[in-house]
Amino acid sequence: MNKFLKFTLLVIGLVGFFSSCQYKFNVEPIIPPPDPMDTIYFSQDVAPIWNIDDKCTSCHKTGSTPPDLTTDNAYAAVVPAFVNTDQPDESSIYTFTHPDTETHSWKKYTSSEAAIILQWIEQGAINN
Ligand code: HEC
Repeated sequence: MNKFLKFTLLVIGLVGFFSSCQYKFNVEPIIPPPDPMDTIYFSQDVAPIWNIDDKCTSCHKTGSTPPDLTTDNAYAAVVPAFVNTDQPDESSIYTFTHPDTETHSWKKYTSSEAAIILQWIEQGAINN
């Protein structure tokens, strides 16, 4: 076997080897920021922020650390105790886990999630 053939086989082998590896990164699903004109729905937009992959509900669940953010109980747990519809950006459900604050040493919102929560409160924090 001449050198060139060996080299070619080596290259083919390496390409085959590396392309057979599949890397799976565990990335959070990227939620785009809301359009300011969009209606934000509690059931479709807000509650999933808290319970998808148990982001918040791993700790904030029934019988555990309040507020209970599980789907069936979240609205009653959060409204009105954690929202301020007069001053939406002072609502603790928005500020406490905002990405720019240090108040909550556990999980925080992404900036898009924070924007969705704020827009929902600005629209009256209704159970829609
Ligand atoms: C690993 C557990 C854990 C996770 C996950 C978690 N939290 Fe918390 N959270 C706590 C604990 C413990 C407290 C109470 C102590 C404190 O104030 O930090 C708390 C406090 C809070 C408070 C203030 C409660 C009050 O009575 O003032 C809010 C609001 C809150 N969390 C929201 C969230 C949200 C929203 C998420 C998801 C983005 C989340 N938390 C994820 C453990 C967690």
